[in-house]
Amino acid sequence: MESMVDNIDISQVAKGFASPSAAITLILAVILFILYTDLPSVPHLPSAPNPLPFIGNLLPLGGRTQRNDSTAYTSWSKALSTDLFQVRLGNQRTIVASSFSTIKDLWIGHSNDLIDRSFQHGFADKLQLDISGAAMTEEIRRCRKAAMRALGKPCWPGYYSLLEPSSVDLVGNLLRKGENGERELEIYPYLRQIIFDLALSLTYGARQKDANDEFVLTLIKNINIISKVRSSTQRFRDYFPILRFLIPDAVSGNVVVTAEKIRQQHLDVLYASLKKRIADGEEVNCVVTGLVKDKLSEEEQHGTCKALLQAAPDSTASSVYIVPLIVSFYKETLRFWTTTPFATPRTTVADIKYRGTTIPKGITMIMNAQEANQDKIWYGEDAEIFNPKRFIGNDTALPHLTFGAGSRICPAAALSNRIIYALILRLILAFEIK
Ligand code: HEM
Repeated sequence: MESMVDNIDISQVAKGFASPSAAITLILAVILFILYTDLPSVPHLPSAPNPLPFIGNLLPLGGRTQRNDSTAYTSWSKALSTDLFQVRLGNQRTIVASSFSTIKDLWIGHSNDLIDRSFQHGFADKLQLDISGAAMTEEIRRCRKAAMRALGKPCWPGYYSLLEPSSVDLVGNLLRKGENGERELEIYPYLRQIIFDLALSLTYGARQKDANDEFVLTLIKNINIISKVRSSTQRFRDYFPILRFLIPDAVSGNVVVTAEKIRQQHLDVLYASLKKRIADGEEVNCVVTGLVKDKLSEEEQHGTCKALLQAAPDSTASSVYIVPLIVSFYKETLRFWTTTPFATPRTTVADIKYRGTTIPKGITMIMNAQEANQDKIWYGEDAEIFNPKRFIGNDTALPHLTFGAGSRICPAAALSNRIIYALILRLILAFEIK
């Protein structure tokens, strides 16, 4: 949805500045910039408290008050005593939902109405094709379908051979670097590294053999830069057309532009190397080869794999036996520590009649997964306590909202669960944990 102010041709306004009437036009245009939002206020829906002129509710977000956005949304929902309210982020009107049942009603009950992603100006337009940041066009639908197939259960056995070396490396590294339990070790960087290694093999059939390999480190660095900006409220320019107009990318040094260039150069190298191996007669089992069979163009293959690589460092790797306590343990871990506190925002593609109001087409919708994952009405009085046995005997399809919900739910949710499960199991089997 283009904002009304985006449609104003500023260059025409500025040209006529020599005359008084043109100056008035310019002043009016500036006032329009200040007052207009992409959509008018939604009737009968409470508004987040204390919005400021021009920036709305943006100031306390983006980590500027040392808390994450979900925590700020929770404080507003408590202050308003509601689980559904609107906020103004610069010129973007947004709705935040924070209870499990309301999120379920909207994200699942109106799954098709919430199928688009919000367009993040100054970010999405700087990236090439990218599933997770794009509206559901025909092209994105094709890529998502191919990704779902490539990540689906029937393909898992083909990937086990990729998981095996990564998880063996993890155990070996932890054993050596932790001096067999003698030295305290922060294991997160090792998990992150193994997941990226796994994602590289899964997508482009490449291995990250050496953790210090300059090529891979540069790729990860630029992937992280892009992830940090995605759906973030840190940068004011993403929410103000006037800032993007007054301070163009070339002047502001928009980090996304450089990061995308470097990311694409690296993926081109990986792609060329994969093509050469296949041309040399090697049989490589990875997502790209699956996408080629699905007849996706080269740009679509990159777009799909980029989304997979981008998401991968957040999860974990391999295996076979199902132990109910471990299954319950990883579900509870994902519920309790919501690694994706407000998922990835959506945009409505139709008006939704809900609780006496109309949520308009084109509005940004944020699920406060962090709050809903600890919703006492849904999970009971112990919702704020970590209970590893919580999901034993409970096979609900939606144990938590950490993978999102509905039409754009994480396509790798099942595979990620399997990988996390397998890594926990492998660590338990390999080490005596005290
Ligand atoms: C524990 C690990 C992971 C978590 C918590 C997670 C979480 C999420 C969430 C919250 C979303 C947005 C869902 C929504 O809008 O409802 C998402 C989307 C996505 N995830 Fe994951 N994810 C994980 C692992 C992965 C992995 C390993 C991959 C790739 C191999 C992946 C690929 C994607 C893609 C491509 C999308 C975009 C889907 C779309 O927009 O249609 N994720 N993920």
